[in-house]
Amino acid sequence: MTTTCIPIKNLSSDADSHRFPLDQWYVAGFSSELADKPIARTFLNRKVVLFRTGAGQVAALEDRCCHRSLPLSCGTVEGAGVRCGYHGLLYAPNGQCIEIPGQERIPSKARVKAYPVVEKNQIIWIWMARDEDAEPTRPAPDYPFHDDPRYKFGSGNYHYRSPWQLIHDNLLDLSHLGYVHLQTIGGDARLHMNAPMKVSSEGDRVKVVRLMPDSSPPPTYRAAWPFGEKCERWQEIEFDLTHLRIWTGAVEPGTDAIDDPDRGGFHMRGFHGITPETEETCHYFWSMSSTKHPDMPDNIDAVIQQTAFTFDEDRTIIEAQYRNMLAFGDKANWIDIHVDAGANRARRIVSELLRKQAAAEPADS
Ligand code: FES
Ligand SMILES: [Fe+2]
Repeated sequence: MTTTCIPIKNLSSDADSHRFPLDQWYVAGFSSELADKPIARTFLNRKVVLFRTGAGQVAALEDRCCHRSLPLSCGTVEGAGVRCGYHGLLYAPNGQCIEIPGQERIPSKARVKAYPVVEKNQIIWIWMARDEDAEPTRPAPDYPFHDDPRYKFGSGNYHYRSPWQLIHDNLLDLSHLGYVHLQTIGGDARLHMNAPMKVSSEGDRVKVVRLMPDSSPPPTYRAAWPFGEKCERWQEIEFDLTHLRIWTGAVEPGTDAIDDPDRGGFHMRGFHGITPETEETCHYFWSMSSTKHPDMPDNIDAVIQQTAFTFDEDRTIIEAQYRNMLAFGDKANWIDIHVDAGANRARRIVSELLRKQAAAEPADS
């Protein structure tokens, strides 16, 4: 009896390098998601199965059994790896088949592609390489706030029917808070629209800072912290291509300076991992880490609940925006206004990375 892998073209192709920045750590999920079942997700047009072995190791394999192509995500997780749900081939985290039920000899070609994955700060990162077999060239990003005792966090994820960059646009321009999120973190729309915005960039990163003294605390802030009539708010947004870190909060007037990084008061640290699924869809992995007021120790529950509500509102807006972009097609030209500076800078970074990738392609790809 022989067992052969019939080469079947993957969904991915060299053309992907024109569509998505490669040689990057993208967010594949949160640690809490991987328990006893495999998870099927598509990242950058590549079908992947994620699982955690009995020893606790996280793995990401091409989601296709090399025997007859059943998705491995239809199988089961065992101590040593993932077992195909059709004829029982067992795969180790490195993609090698390590057991064929009823057959002693395991062909060396009985293997599937394994993606580099790292579990760090309760986030699972996957390295999407330009050269399929290339190893990561840098460590996965740090996000220490998930493990910082000053904060407590909650997380969630969305599947979006929109291209990933529409979420970048949304997160890099928080002036929308005053219109979209009035019930939670919004507040006075005019204050948001008029707040001076400082945009800076370094390499592939963009930073947007807005300070809003003399603000009225919005509902989420009041639920979490005993603010009086007024508070002084800050918003610091850092775009780092595959994820954004958004540090917002407020101090009580007359206490700490709002631009002091060691300021006290109420803090919300948002993590936003945005990973393309296809050109038209994406995954959005978010977490919110919040400080606790000593007299209101349960505030985080309200913050998480309202954060999830807030992100529901964003999804409604962004998906409606994309449906309309499709409906109007070429007629959907955009004009820019003052709030777009950060988002446009991020778009230029992505375009430039894609241009360089395309320029480095062999001529016949
Ligand atoms: S398809 Fe036969 S073992 Fe997977
Ligand atoms: Fe929003």
